[in-house]
Amino acid sequence: MDRGGGAWWQHGIFYQIYPRSFQDSNADGVGDIAGIIERLPYLQALGVDAIWLSPIFPSPMADFGYDISDYTGIDPLFGTSEDFDALMSAAHAAGLKVILDLVPNHTSDRHPWFIEARSSRDNPKRDWYLWRDPKPDGSAPNNWLSEFGGSAWTLDDATGQYYYHAFLAQQPDLNWRNPQVREAIHEVMRFWLRKGVDGFRVDVIWHLIKDAEFRDNPPNPFYREGRPPHEKILTQYSTDQPEVHEVVAGMRRVIDEFDDRVLIGEIYLPFERLVAYYGNDLRGAQMPFNFALLSTLWSARSVEKIIADYEAALPKGAWPNWVLGNHDRPRVASRVGAAQARVAAMLLLTLRGTPTLYYGDEIGMHQVAIAPDQVRDPFEKNVPGIGVGRDGCRTPMQWDATPYAGFSAAKPWLPLADDFRHENVVNLDADAQSILHLYKALIQLKKQLPQLQSGDYVPVAAEGDLLLYRRASDGGAATIVLNLGAEPLSIESDAAGLAGEILLSTLMDRNGERIGDRLDLRADEGVIIGAPAGQAE
Ligand code: GLC
Repeated sequence: MDRGGGAWWQHGIFYQIYPRSFQDSNADGVGDIAGIIERLPYLQALGVDAIWLSPIFPSPMADFGYDISDYTGIDPLFGTSEDFDALMSAAHAAGLKVILDLVPNHTSDRHPWFIEARSSRDNPKRDWYLWRDPKPDGSAPNNWLSEFGGSAWTLDDATGQYYYHAFLAQQPDLNWRNPQVREAIHEVMRFWLRKGVDGFRVDVIWHLIKDAEFRDNPPNPFYREGRPPHEKILTQYSTDQPEVHEVVAGMRRVIDEFDDRVLIGEIYLPFERLVAYYGNDLRGAQMPFNFALLSTLWSARSVEKIIADYEAALPKGAWPNWVLGNHDRPRVASRVGAAQARVAAMLLLTLRGTPTLYYGDEIGMHQVAIAPDQVRDPFEKNVPGIGVGRDGCRTPMQWDATPYAGFSAAKPWLPLADDFRHENVVNLDADAQSILHLYKALIQLKKQLPQLQSGDYVPVAAEGDLLLYRRASDGGAATIVLNLGAEPLSIESDAAGLAGEILLSTLMDRNGERIGDRLDLRADEGVIIGAPAGQAE
């Protein structure tokens, strides 16, 4: 059965850029839009189809751009509106779509809307945010906790009420029950869509609506010491409320006012709740991000279970997607190890659905240890010492072996990885067997083989370190055999139904090898098997 996948965002490969860390063009140690333009040829050569930019809008940078003070401007740190327009034209001319980060759950506390709202209890914008009276003893209205530590409520002394913030006190939550808020953000979306942006990744979309009565959240019976403090309570009343789906459908209607755009949602929820974000009749987000690979145990059984559970949970016609890294989670090369990072790449690019790559993962960038005096992330500053810091996955892209890795002519805002002199784009490009070339080869193969694009996912085996599955379509099957361990593996070809030739090995040295009676995989090796080039099965 062919399951389609005709839209650009279904056959495209997405690449997340964290603009602060991609390329600096003006020697201030922070990446910018002109820098991204310079690097478009690299992205074209890599073969990706769409770039998603973390926020580039004016911001006091309390949460590095996720605290927006003007939704339709560009922060001078990143450039000007003209720079943005130039990026749009250059990206589109290079065949790359551009996705922006929409942060509608909260604004900066310096956003004019919040400045007005907090100015008095009867200000017309008061109800654009979430205000509550203190309890009789003066304490916060309920027990909700900020994801970045402490209470989620901050008292505004001047007006005597608390406002709610799921994240920092500098990030007050908007009131999405207020129709004016919905309309204002819809207008923001239209502003960028008219400029030609191809869609949005919507920040914390499952947070948008809170319980109308602001009931206390229940305690989390599974809380473990050493985990972030906000996990002590569940988010039963503060996130994922039934009414959120109307809000998502409203955003989708705006997306659909324009041709061929995409709505992607950031959502950390179990599959059965995640898939509700596709919406009734699939009129919600086209791609609610599937983050399951970010936290899985790296074993064949666990990974296979995730794939099977996700495939089973998907509503009919819903298009899947997979993510291996982002700016909030430790890098894949550190989660699974450098050798397995290649296997993870093969997994990401052979599963059914749209893959999103995180900048630098294609060169195997690892988590960088950040000294206490170099910490920038507010989460780490508020909740130090238990490993929540996100700076380590946001370090500058490693382009070459020059003093600042070709990222900047000045000292970067975050330290560079200590191995950047070897592990950089220039060096890896010169090595035909590097992880960079593996990524390129995987991307090309995904584009060439219809079964990798639209074939069904067929599980075959998940035992010990062996993960084996097929992608089958009318035109034939590709078989993916992954060794998730550091010991060699040997499989009987007949029993596993292996025939054809190796189209690609993660070690990049046995393409074209015919499959005999046995398939021997080396430590940390994965292969894709299919019909020989130019021959249908
Ligand atoms: C999202 C972003 C994260 C940010 C948070 C608050 O989870 O990915 O970086 O800190 O929202 O906006």
